[in-house]
Parts: sequence; structure tokens; C-alpha cells
Amino acid sequence: MACAQRYLNKVVIVTGGSKGIGRGIVKVFVQNGAKVVFCALGVEDGKTLESALNKEGPGSCMFVSCDMTKEDDIKRLINVTVGQFGQIDCLVNNAGWHPPHKATDDTTAEEFKDLLNLNLINYFLASKYALPYLRKTQGNIINLSSLVASIGQKHAAPYVATKGAIISMTKAMAVDESRYQVRVNCISPSNVMTPLWEELASQTENSSATIKEGENAQLIGRMGTEAESGLAALFLAADATFCTGIDLFLSGGVQSRNAEITQLLLHGLVYDSFAAMAALRTALNGRLLQSLPVSFGSLRFASSSFKAADLTIERNPVLKPKPDPSTLVFGKQFSDHMLTIYWSAEGGWKNPEIKPFQNLSLHPAASSLHYSIELFEGMKAFRGVDNHIRLFRPNLNMERMYRSAVRSCLPVFDKVELLECIKKLVEVDQEWVPYSTDASLYVRPTFIGIEPSLGVARAGHALLFVIIGPVGPYFATGGFSPVSLLADPRYVRACRGGVGEYKMGGNYGPTIAIQSEAAKKGCQQVLWLYGEQEEITEVGTMNLFIYWTTENGERELVTPPLDGIILPGVTRQSLLDLSREWGDFKVTERKVVMKELIGALNDGRVLEVFGSGTACVVCPVGSLLYREKIYQIPTMQNGPDLAKRFHKELTDLQYGRKQRDWAPLVV
Ligand SMILES: Cc1ncc(COP(=O)(O)O)c(C=O)c1O
Repeated sequence: MACAQRYLNKVVIVTGGSKGIGRGIVKVFVQNGAKVVFCALGVEDGKTLESALNKEGPGSCMFVSCDMTKEDDIKRLINVTVGQFGQIDCLVNNAGWHPPHKATDDTTAEEFKDLLNLNLINYFLASKYALPYLRKTQGNIINLSSLVASIGQKHAAPYVATKGAIISMTKAMAVDESRYQVRVNCISPSNVMTPLWEELASQTENSSATIKEGENAQLIGRMGTEAESGLAALFLAADATFCTGIDLFLSGGVQSRNAEITQLLLHGLVYDSFAAMAALRTALNGRLLQSLPVSFGSLRFASSSFKAADLTIERNPVLKPKPDPSTLVFGKQFSDHMLTIYWSAEGGWKNPEIKPFQNLSLHPAASSLHYSIELFEGMKAFRGVDNHIRLFRPNLNMERMYRSAVRSCLPVFDKVELLECIKKLVEVDQEWVPYSTDASLYVRPTFIGIEPSLGVARAGHALLFVIIGPVGPYFATGGFSPVSLLADPRYVRACRGGVGEYKMGGNYGPTIAIQSEAAKKGCQQVLWLYGEQEEITEVGTMNLFIYWTTENGERELVTPPLDGIILPGVTRQSLLDLSREWGDFKVTERKVVMKELIGALNDGRVLEVFGSGTACVVCPVGSLLYREKIYQIPTMQNGPDLAKRFHKELTDLQYGRKQRDWAPLVV
């Protein structure tokens, strides 16, 4: 069906047009035949959008790099537009920022003034310089405000003030410009799903619940989309010819949710006053509108996550024979199927697919290959003594993967939905879970940027995939065997301000050379040190624990804190949780430096040193090569009682010998 072009050949300027709501507006105007000039600070995003939309048409767009806090840049934007197209029919003021939430007591006058300049003065100046042209065409101005201008927002007084001022300025300009038949209107969006929204939600305790709350806050029961923001602007520009000075709520009815709940209360339909208050808080004053930005950031046209319910399964017609569990080599055997989920900035998430295990086909410029836009997870499925298959605290892996995705500028997803897809994959390949309480099925979720472009920029295309394969016991002999470590302060695994706390591929490749150096010196693993004080951080690809007697004669289990350079291991967390439950010794997360460890070794106070990780659960350390000297560590001589206790407790849960909600069933 042919679609009427509702703004054919009209000239539109959109500020802050390369992301989020601005991008939605640019796209809708181009789709409706307009010639759009849009500006933003970031050239890469703008250029990418410009070329994508010009391919699609039927209108056209042009990107101009512009800093809207600079009056000269604003003048240049107007001049470039008029120079190119000779007229302006519509100005959409959208560029602005939502600073982090801050209490009034902590906000300075300078911060407030800067925000006024960025969020309000730029709207004023762009209007001022565009108006001479808008008067000629009897055009219109659309100012993007925010619903928080009407309902307030927690710890955001300057932001809310700028947004309120935009509405007031709109009304004042509508009065002034009416004599030229120029209309000036305003849009106040509320919850529009953006990556920024999701990123902030990810910082709350339960991000899926926060997003759900965000969706439920609207009468319509979902968040707005980028495309709907564009359609609202098109309506004001093209159709609302008798509207000026109005504020259009693009809010899914969030403001009326108040009225709805109040009426339920009045009519006695909500009896439980506590529940009613909670509902009211959620709808009105809960964190979604109070502490999350509304209306900002880049967003998607499509769903914010894939859904396990949409999973499709293509069975592999040729199943491989399963290897003997006693011959397994880590990471070399893979099952018959894999899970893939594609994402693109334009189309959002595609449906998840389980399909026959196969090679990937990637563009040679794929961003993961050049710039390590890559992250992964490592978890296991176990066949229990009751023949049920269990995962181990998989929600912690999903949380960690989500955090790595946010840090990698890869799109976020619903952690519960991903876990459901992974469970389904394990179920499909359940015969690959070894019939052994020494072996398991390793699960490797991986997430890569596949943007076919060499620009160092956020990936607009991404692929999340999961492969699985059987693995044998970490210690070939069955019992514990201790490892020797090389501690060389010249090498670091991660540094503060870096990405060591995320499970990104880029953290691992560079360690191989040091691992080889350790091997040359007869050591099996590297003890990673950091900084001048030679902080002890991790061992190989494991977290590190020291069990010792302190100088005060107390038994203490100590591990480095999660302060940016430590990977938050699932096993680490489990050992800490267990030992705190047991209460048999002091448990401390703190910095430990080499001097302290060597001192304790010399004093004979060290009982056990071990690494922790999914691969081995716990791995005893037997010796340390440090500054050309070998230090013996008496882990094995001490049992190792604690390492064995941890190992037994965790494997009992994993293989179903003990029950706990840490090990959810797959089958
Ligand atoms: C650097 C690093 N530290 C620690 C760990 C242990 O983490 P987990 O217990 O989740 O396997 C790993 C393994 O994933 C790792 O790569």
C-alpha cells in the first residue's frame, strides 16, 4: 500500500538528531518526504544515520556536526540549512542532557547555569535564528520538554527547571509568533525505552523488575518508542494546524494512572491500603519517574529484549557420537546445536534461534575482530545423581554478562529471557551432559559486535550466541593437585579504571604471553599483582583466597575486594556466602599486598591458598616464585581442609546430592 508523504519537500531542522527521540523524529520526517538537516556532537553516529536514511528515502537528510552550547555553531546550522534548501518549515529543538541525579544541597550554581545553557538557551537561540525563515513559510517550532516538567523528579531540580522553562518559553513564543502564523508547540515525553533508560535500570537491584515497573507505569502498559516520538512531532508539524502554545503529552497515559488508582481507592476496589500505597508509589513517585530520566537517550524501534517464547528450534539431522567423559579435553568438543540471537540498531532484537552447530559468517570488518567488542560467560550444567540436570547460580552469570554488555556498548537484554533460552539449548542437547559426577557440560554464552565498519564506534549490529560442550574433571588424577605460581610485578592483568571486572575477551588474550613466561620458569599459573604495593589480585583465570592465622591469632579467610580490577566470580561469591553462613572463621574482603603474604609465609601463619572458579571450584596453590625465590605454601600439608570443604559443598549442590536454590533444574 502506498503511503502518503505528509511533509513532502518541507525543510526540517532537528537538533540532537542522531540518537533516541531525535533520531526517531529525523527518521519519520524522512519517511514522509521531508528534507531534514539534523545535528549532534558525535560525527560517527550522525554520519551513519545520514547514510542509512538516505538509502531508505523517500525524503533526504543531512548531518551537520554542531555543539548547541555555542551560539556560532547554532547560527552555522541555520545558515547551512538555508544555504542548502533556501527555506525552513519546521525547527525541532531536542538537543539536551539529563545529568546524574543530585540533591539540591550538592548542586552548584555553575552546574545549574551550564544546564540552563545546554537545555534551554540553545532552544531559544535556535528559535531566534530560525524564526526569520519560519515567518516566511508560516512554519512551526516543536520544543521537546519532558513530563517531569509537570510532575517533578527526585534529585533533579535543575533538569526539571530547564524542562519547565521550555514549556513556558513555548507558550510565550506562541503568543509572539502568532501574528506571523508561526506555531510554537511542545512535546513532553515520559518513559520512552532507550539504552540509557536500560543502563540506568541495570544499576538498580533488579533491572528487569525496574523495567517492568517502568512499563506498568503507563496506562498503555508499555514504554513509548522512538518511532512514536517521530509521529507525534509529525502530527504537530503537518496536521495540528490549529494548535499553538500546546504541550502534547507523549506519555502512554502515565499521568492518568494516578487518577485510575485514586478511583480504585475511592470505589473500594483496592482494599489493602498498603498495596494501594505501593501501587500509587509505583505509578507516581516510584523510582521509574523519580530517578530515571524520561525522554532522553538513544532508543530502539523494536523490542528491548528478545523473548524465550519466540525461540525457534531447527533440529540437527546428524547427531555426533558423544565422547567418553574420561577423554575430554577442555573446550575442544561441542554439542550438536547452538543458540544465536541477532540484534541491530534499526530492527532491535531478532527472535532467538536454536540451530545445528555451525561456523559463523562474519564481515571481515566486524567490530569484534578489530576492536574486541566481545564478551563472554562461563558456566556449567551438571547431571545429578538423580539424573536431573542443574545449572549453578546461573542468574549471577546473567547479571555479569549484562554488566559486561553495558560496558561494551552492546545492547542489553532481559536476563531471565536469556537464561530461559540457554536452558532450552541444554535441554535440546541434554544427552551431551556427561553421565558422570566428575564431568559436566560447559556453557559459553558469547556476545560480539558485528558492525561491518572500521570506525571505532558503538556497534549497530551484534550477535549473541551460546555454544556448549562436555568437559572433564579439572584435576586429571581425580584428587586435588596443587599449582605453582609466578608472581612478577612487571605484569598486570587489569588496572583501575579499566575493564578487569568485566568478562571481556580483551582481558584474556594479552595474558597468554605471561602464562607462557610462567611455564618457561616451571610455574603453572600467574599470580597477578597490581600497583606499587604489589596488591595480590587474581590467579590465572581464578579469584584468589588466602586462609591464614592473623597476627592477632585469629583464623581468617581473605580475598581481594571487588574494586574494579577483580572479576566478580560466581564461585568467589559462593565461597564467601558459604563461609559467612558457617561462621567458623572471620571472612574478609580486603586488599592484601605481597609483603603481607611473604611475611605470613615466613611466620608460618599461612594455612591454605587457593584459586576459585567454575572450571575447578577450588584449586590449591603449592608454591610461589617471586623475585627469583621459591616460597613453599603449605596448602596440601593442611589438608587442604577448607578447600576440600568448599569443593564438597559446591559439588554436592551441583550434582544434586544436596538441595538448594543455587542449582535450578533444567531437566
Ligand atoms: C579473571 C577471572 N577471575 C575469576 C574467574 C572465576 O569466575 P567464576 O567463579 O564465575 O568462574 C574467572 C573465570 O571466569 C576469570 O576469568
